[in-house]
Amino acid sequence: MVVRHLSGPHELDLFLQLPYVLDDELADDLAEGRRRPEWMWVATDDDRVLARASWWGRPGAAEPVVLDFFDLDDTLELDVAVEIGERVLRAGLAAVVPAGSTPPEYGRYIPPNWREDGTARRVVESRMSVLERLGARPLVERLRLEWTPDAAVPASSGKLRFRPAKGRDELVALMEPVLEGTLDAHSQADLQTMSPAAVAAKHFDEEFAGFTSPHTWWQVAELCDGEPVGFVVPARNTYHAIIAYVGVLPAHRGNGYIDDLLAEGTRILAAENVPRIRASTDLGNVPMAQAFARAGYINFERAINMTW
Ligand SMILES: CC(C)(COP(=O)(O)OP(=O)(O)OC[C@H]1O[C@@H](n2cnc3c(N)ncnc32)[C@H](O)[C@@H]1OP(=O)(O)O)[C@@H](O)C(=O)NCCC(=O)NCCS
Repeated sequence: MVVRHLSGPHELDLFLQLPYVLDDELADDLAEGRRRPEWMWVATDDDRVLARASWWGRPGAAEPVVLDFFDLDDTLELDVAVEIGERVLRAGLAAVVPAGSTPPEYGRYIPPNWREDGTARRVVESRMSVLERLGARPLVERLRLEWTPDAAVPASSGKLRFRPAKGRDELVALMEPVLEGTLDAHSQADLQTMSPAAVAAKHFDEEFAGFTSPHTWWQVAELCDGEPVGFVVPARNTYHAIIAYVGVLPAHRGNGYIDDLLAEGTRILAAENVPRIRASTDLGNVPMAQAFARAGYINFERAINMTW
């Protein structure tokens, strides 16, 4: 068995021997520099791929931001597949992640019913067990959500008025108090080691700052006297139109304002005639998940994240 990274984009077909839901994105990702052959690892027996892993990163960045492909050949005996998976991931981690730094998180999209479906459960748990052997721990299970134009644009109550956010400073200043009492596991984990101001700034700089869609889409919601109650960040990422974030200030929670914020974000993106809007939220963020359901978003998939 040989464990190595791809020698170049021409080896994409080899990498595609094992299947995953993001396979269609790989060719473009390679062409645009979001994936690099050195970030794409395989274990092979002759020409047969037994396991594969790939990291994703921003073009030009020194390091990737997520491990989002990790597949085993599920026709192998479980213990053999896990052993091979561990070898490919260990070798990839040693080469891709600088010595002494924390590896980027692992993410995998999984069927909504993965716990009840024996085959799906084996697929998910075998990969998670390899990650655990290498020191990663489950952080959160998330719901992936999608709105399509078949659903109506959600109605607004008219209780709030909206205006574009004035820029980074105003948005970060609103994001900071919204972190109070958040049910979001990534935010909670960040708050263990950083101040709310630092968490808000990091979230903005690592995600929102990179959106090339108009920043005028980012909306602040106000009461009629001009008091802000929250904000919504609709955007377009590399692949889809998304509701990147939505938050209600602690003093204004429990009034259903989330429905107006989601309606406004959805309306802005729907006006661009997008074929779909994607969003995600933690399984445990029940108020948020219920709001997405009320706004016509369908839960089509889940995701798990594991961190070191
Ligand atoms: C999730 C969030 C947007 C919900 O906004 P909201 O406008 O308060 O939503 P709702 O009015 O539907 O209230 C949701 C639930 O919050 C709880 N709640 C009610 N009053 C509250 C208060 N004063 N303070 C805090 N929570 C309250 C209740 O459980 C309420 O549901 P119920 O009234 O049906 O029992 C808001 O809590 C928030 O900003 N959270 C932090 C950021 C976040 O998680 N964003 C989503 C990331 S994907």
